[in-house]
Amino acid sequence: MTIHVKNNIHWVGQRDWEVQDFHGTEYKITKGTSYNSYLIREEKVVLIDTVDHRFCHQFLQNLEKEINLNDIDFIVINHAEEDHSGALSALMEKIPQTPIYCTEAAIDSIVGHHHHPEWNFNTVKTGDTLDIGHGKQLVFVEAPMLHWPDSMMTYLTGDAVLFSNDAFGQHYCDERLFNDEVDQHELYEQCLRYYANILTPFSNLVTAKINEVLSFNLPVDMIATSHGIVWRDNPTQIIHQYLEWANHYQENRITIFYDSMSNNTRMMADAIAQGIHDVDANVAVKVFNVAKHDKNEILSSVFRSKAILVGSSTMNNVMMPKIAGMLEEIAGLRFKNKSAAAFGSYGWNGGAVDRIHARLTDAGFDTSLSLKTKWRPDHKALAECQDYGRTIAKQWQLNHQTQPVENTTPVQESVSPVSIQTTSVSGSSEKTIDTQSMICTVCNWVYDPAIGEPNQDVMPGTAWDDVPDDFFCPDCNLGKDVFIEYNN
Ligand code: FEO
Repeated sequence: MTIHVKNNIHWVGQRDWEVQDFHGTEYKITKGTSYNSYLIREEKVVLIDTVDHRFCHQFLQNLEKEINLNDIDFIVINHAEEDHSGALSALMEKIPQTPIYCTEAAIDSIVGHHHHPEWNFNTVKTGDTLDIGHGKQLVFVEAPMLHWPDSMMTYLTGDAVLFSNDAFGQHYCDERLFNDEVDQHELYEQCLRYYANILTPFSNLVTAKINEVLSFNLPVDMIATSHGIVWRDNPTQIIHQYLEWANHYQENRITIFYDSMSNNTRMMADAIAQGIHDVDANVAVKVFNVAKHDKNEILSSVFRSKAILVGSSTMNNVMMPKIAGMLEEIAGLRFKNKSAAAFGSYGWNGGAVDRIHARLTDAGFDTSLSLKTKWRPDHKALAECQDYGRTIAKQWQLNHQTQPVENTTPVQESVSPVSIQTTSVSGSSEKTIDTQSMICTVCNWVYDPAIGEPNQDVMPGTAWDDVPDDFFCPDCNLGKDVFIEYNN
């Protein structure tokens, strides 16, 4: 089956109604997904991406009904993850000489997955073009870490269609392909879930990449993603939504999640939630038990929140394992501009609460005083929990009134190489560009001008501005554009 997208572009992808797990079992899929592949037939015939490896035979059968495979002139692989390049081995068995256009990083990941270094790879960089006839060109835009180092987008001139791969997509399955045809609430929910759980750590890159693409001043008539729908109606709405989400997004919401051995910590959670509501009837308070609720929904709620409360019973003087797992995941998602606090019931020591507090602080949350209750909370202890909820709600009201989050796109501010104020143990001080350290937003490697990076001939004393443009992070190999200012 194919679906007409626009002019000579057809969708030749695969729907997957029954998939439940993605990235192992780390991402629960609730509405199915699709693996979108596109066939462009101009003077040259181009296939953009393939489908998940589990559907390779179905994909080829479908494609062969549409076209003689030998008529495909170029294959574009925007991203090597197996849900997009999975059918490449089966396809290349049939047309082994066909040129594959991809980023340099993609050669490593494609060969790593398919083990065919002899394929006819053609590397492209941002701004490179490929003429496909009838006055149309493909323009390539590298998009490292959206979602892998190899990721890129491909823009088709004339039709003004951006093939964005993972970016702007969502795990969502519907027989209808276009955004204006599907349930808008479901679509928004799945877009947010996808961003919150997959793209949050790369928010700085999202903003920078979008601004770069916007700076090209290219018209965008459609955004053809590799999962879910094609943005046809007001396609830039999802771009603006991404800019908002990437800008330390938060709503007037507090998320409480916990695990509870004997229901005692759950009783505390309920009482704290009541206390918050007592003083702030407008804040949305969402309470989850990590052992029972969908993990990705909890993380989506954290993404939407201005603050979180994390509770655990103490077990063997540590937190319960599901809470530890959630905190590890939250640390990896690198949420910004959020407050947090820990709570929990204990019997003879309260080690879990202390450890949660430390983990939240390490993860970059602005942490408040914790709350411990010994054994099962009685009326007095529950009143204390409720009072704690009132106190913390007031504090967080104040915090987030004095630190408003604007729905604009200050990325240029956040990476601006001008002098900045930093906070040190001894108080505020001013740093100039000469000593400004920079951190890789992908792997957290820090560039210290005092040390430089001698392996790349960047000598000690080299300010970031003077570091060559072809510098790459020695840990993850990404370029200067993924670095932001670092103040320790
Ligand atoms: Fe849809 Fe990064 O794969």
